[in-house]
Amino acid sequence: MSKTFEARLIEIADNVEHRLQDLLSDSVRSGEMARPERLMAALRHGALDGGKRVRPFLLMETAHLFGAEDTQSLNTACALECIHCYSLIHDDLPSMDNDGLRRGKPTVHRAFDEATAILAGDSLLTLAFEIMASDEQLTDPQLRITLVRLLAQAAGIGGMIGGQMKDLAAEGRFEKTPVPQLTEPDIRQLQAMKTGALLRFACEAGARIGQASSAHIAQMTRFGDIVGLAFQLADDLLDETATEATVGKATGKDRAAGKATFVTLYGIDGTKTRLQKLVEEARDLLTPFGDKGQCLLEAARFIAARTH
Ligand code: IPE
Ligand code: IPE
Ligand code: MG
Ligand code: MG
Ligand code: MG
Repeated sequence: MSKTFEARLIEIADNVEHRLQDLLSDSVRSGEMARPERLMAALRHGALDGGKRVRPFLLMETAHLFGAEDTQSLNTACALECIHCYSLIHDDLPSMDNDGLRRGKPTVHRAFDEATAILAGDSLLTLAFEIMASDEQLTDPQLRITLVRLLAQAAGIGGMIGGQMKDLAAEGRFEKTPVPQLTEPDIRQLQAMKTGALLRFACEAGARIGQASSAHIAQMTRFGDIVGLAFQLADDLLDETATEATVGKATGKDRAAGKATFVTLYGIDGTKTRLQKLVEEARDLLTPFGDKGQCLLEAARFIAARTH
């Protein structure tokens, strides 16, 4: 019998934690000259012991759906989590969202300092691509190159970084640049770039690691888009309705900063209705996989209804 969503999330989160502990230990790795102590401590602060590990879960469970072993997908999942953790460290910087709490702990720039936080983020970004280049788990070089390209695109100009730029521009913080009047498609695009791109990559990469057919890869990429949209809808809802104690990060900040969120667009009830519709869409996409798709469906439900 396949594992429940909760059990599988814990299993994957544990495996990711151990692998990241190994990658971020003080021991110098092959090809490195040294590991500066303060940098390593900041990296561990930002990447270990916290985080739901939803992106690694989606990647590894999608790969599993198509018959891949976790030993084939763990590295790519860890690379993706490194990019995500880097994006959070930089997102919290004083020059970005200026946040002091993340995953229930002081943000990296508060626990260390701003320069160290910038370098810790940079380190996680570059480490991700070092992991992706390794032939330890994925022996097919063509697959590795494809995944490297897709991850770079998801994290880059037309993905997460571009989305973050649009997010800041929408706050109207750039002098001499008029505050853009964003339409619904603009806000959806901003969010699809900022948050959706990495979640989409998780599902597409999982399908590719599982050697899925082109049709199945397209189907799971679409699933990733739906989950990505649901993820940010829930995030915006939590910022508006949850407390700092439950989510482990400051809340009520989007409205204060004048951010372009789904809650400003649809309101609280409208956001909840859309989340329900997205779960139905996710269910329809997974129906052809029968029981084997159940765990991913539970994940979509969890993401839509998450409380942290
Ligand atoms: C938070 O992501 C940032 C967004 C993209 C909305 P998560 O909610 O996945 O954060 P962690 O990794 O669990 O802390
Ligand atoms: C951040 O979005 C998305 C990233 C690319 C990191 P938010 O700014 O809404 O994330 P939180 O609410 O700080 O986690
Ligand atoms: Mg932000
Ligand atoms: Mg933020
Ligand atoms: Mg947020």
